[in-house]
Amino acid sequence: MPERHVLIIDDEPELTNLLAYRLRKDAFFVRTASDGAQGLAAIDDGFDGIVLLDLRLPDADGLDLVEPIMARNADNRIIIMTAHGSIDAAIEATRRGAYDFVHKSEDLSRRIAVAVKNAFEHREMTSRVSSLEEEVSEKYHFGNIVARSPEMRKLFETLRHVIDSKVTVLLQGESGTGKELVARAIHYEGPRKRGPFVAVNCAGIPETLLESELFGHERGAFTGAIAAKKGRFELADGGTLFLDEIGEMPVHLQAKLLRVLQERKVERIGSAQLRPVDVRIISATHRNLMDMVKDGRFREDLYYRLAVFPVFLPPLRERVGDIALLASYFVEKACQEEKKSPRTLSPPAMRMLERHHYPGNVRELENIISHAVVVSTGSTVSISDLPLSLVDAVRGGGTQRADAPRELDADGNIEQSFEVMFQSLEEIPELERVETALIARALQLADGDVVQAAKALGMSRATIYRRIERLGGKEALVDPDGAHASDGG
Ligand SMILES: Nc1ncnc2c1ncn2[C@@H]1O[C@H](COP(=O)(O)OP(=O)(O)OP(=O)(O)O)[C@@H](O)[C@H]1O
Ligand SMILES: [Mg+2]
Repeated sequence: MPERHVLIIDDEPELTNLLAYRLRKDAFFVRTASDGAQGLAAIDDGFDGIVLLDLRLPDADGLDLVEPIMARNADNRIIIMTAHGSIDAAIEATRRGAYDFVHKSEDLSRRIAVAVKNAFEHREMTSRVSSLEEEVSEKYHFGNIVARSPEMRKLFETLRHVIDSKVTVLLQGESGTGKELVARAIHYEGPRKRGPFVAVNCAGIPETLLESELFGHERGAFTGAIAAKKGRFELADGGTLFLDEIGEMPVHLQAKLLRVLQERKVERIGSAQLRPVDVRIISATHRNLMDMVKDGRFREDLYYRLAVFPVFLPPLRERVGDIALLASYFVEKACQEEKKSPRTLSPPAMRMLERHHYPGNVRELENIISHAVVVSTGSTVSISDLPLSLVDAVRGGGTQRADAPRELDADGNIEQSFEVMFQSLEEIPELERVETALIARALQLADGDVVQAAKALGMSRATIYRRIERLGGKEALVDPDGAHASDGG
């Protein structure tokens, strides 16, 4: 654990000594300052930790020190010590950047010790989170591909090796995993980017037409061939030919394709002339080509020609780390496309998205988000905006990931819980009671840390402090049976 330093800025020596004694006992390093000038000097001197700040100092109003202290070192956390229930000043202090406040009352040293410990934990957690965020938010830019999972990072690293060469790439992966996106990225990130990118969907063109589409034909080569036509191989000269759904290619064309790949020359239908072509071949399929080879449905020699550099795109459910990033990206994209004001996903909606199994992979996620953005109003996309089919799939567990976190969704299951709890109007409690109970519960769970509780409740710090004050103070809420210390000073 790093050294934990506390600076007490207070002009009452007795109180300062008492606090310093208590905090040192808890292994904190304590410095003291008896007025504002000394306090600021200590911070200028490099102090880094928790500052206990009295609001009434001989040379300054503590309130006016909050901003200068934070300006000197934003990692510091200020805990205000107030007397005489000066709640408004304390609230103002938190508005200016103080972390917490504690009333000067009987039990002060114990409560200060707890507040200081909480503040350190918060500080250490925030610094961990921000370094983690820096680490993971480093997105890997590769064409238009959005990803940050280790699986995709590895994939991008291997792709970097093939970009500059002409090596033939075979992309395999379930439908919607981004095979076409990767094919385009390889083309547009590489030296052929000024050349054409020509895509052929082998499943989308009738078998009778596929041959002439690929290789072209001469005039009169067959009925209807009224003019000579270049095939896609020729059209892709100098660029990239993307053979999509290569697994659907009929066996007799596989033989012809193999020949072109071997000789790098094409023969139009109805012509004996061999025309050299300079193309990079990228092919893709959602099928397991090796299985097709074993079944005799795909030529083995062609397979090895195409799979010089095989790439497997993992399904989205196996790179859960990408879901949140992709979801946010698609929300932003959909807002632009739909000309809607910018909005964000609510945390429960995000959690729900992260728990889905995505048989349709990234394409499915993109469709879900487009739908949700269209029906959403205001600045948040919440669970109620998600398609019911998704909510059912996740809740019903039919396609839910086995390792999905089992948590309640605040804007979902709470309605169901209420249905169970309250069966008649007589049983409905007053709203204020529910609020009080919820605030108290949040405070208990946060170990009395008001900032954490406010965060969980989605309340501003000023609001929660006001509520707490109205409800008789934090201690009364956290420990209603305990002695309720009176303000001293
Ligand atoms: N990592 C990603 N970042 C951003 N968009 C993505 C990503 N992966 C996929 N997409 C988007 O998801 C959709 C599906 O991707 P794509 O068409 O490349 O999938 P595919 O593997 O070719 O699917 P199919 O086998 O069904 O043809 C596209 O709109 C694509 O832009
Ligand atoms: Mg595709």
